[in-house]
Amino acid sequence: MYQDLKDKVVVITGASKGLGRAMAVRFGQEQSKVVINYRSKEEEALEVKKEVEEAGGQAIIVHGDVSKEADVINLVQTAVKEFGTLDIMINNAGFENPVASHELSLDNWQAVIDTNLTGAFLGSREAIKYWVENDIKGNVINMSSVHEMIPWPLFVHYAASKGGMKLMTETLALEYAPKGIRVNNIGPGAMDTPINAEKFNDPEQRADVESMIPMGYIGKPEEVSSVAAFLASEQASYVTGVTLFVDGGMTKYPSFQAGRG
Ligand code: BGC
Repeated sequence: MYQDLKDKVVVITGASKGLGRAMAVRFGQEQSKVVINYRSKEEEALEVKKEVEEAGGQAIIVHGDVSKEADVINLVQTAVKEFGTLDIMINNAGFENPVASHELSLDNWQAVIDTNLTGAFLGSREAIKYWVENDIKGNVINMSSVHEMIPWPLFVHYAASKGGMKLMTETLALEYAPKGIRVNNIGPGAMDTPINAEKFNDPEQRADVESMIPMGYIGKPEEVSSVAAFLASEQASYVTGVTLFVDGGMTKYPSFQAGRG
């Protein structure tokens, strides 16, 4: 646990499930004040709120689509109105929708970019604006992926969104470092979350992905939420502009394991 996270106000986008949900609960354990953003799953968001409260935190739920500017503005304003300030912005909402690149429609491309990249930009911008205006040393955590560095056929829009996020984060980190505002990415690998449920519930596909992970297993959401708590805390006070990969070694060229090559 990180003492300084107690009573901190943290907004988490896409927090009704998956990594967002795990982070919400973790910040609840830290006794933070958690703003749970969701797009379509109100009932699940209410369950997460209960879990956060049971864990020892406070929580509200706020509906909003992060690809819509007005929704993101409302999200940050609601956090400030309800909890008095904003300390940590976690841009987590994202999705993937695979298709061969030569058959990818503009609508599909745009939808993934709008949520994964533009949504993270809007969340960062609104949070940083508030911090600059109020002289607050806040911090942004963007949920990137191993695919900010690993190319991924059939997922060109997803990989482009995460590759874009890498330089967005580095640029914002550089731009706002003089104000004490930190901006970092978490780069998860293959995790046991709803986004992957279909793939990983199939033993063959699961084993195939596991063979690409030097540590040999699919990660648990709690292995990401613990990193989010660290990055948000004062323990990471000198860390900005990095991507912390949480991937069991997936980004380390596993095909070269055991001296192959
Ligand atoms: C994707 C997962 C995938 C993992 C490793 C993540 O960003 O969301 O679907 O299993 O990367 O390839």
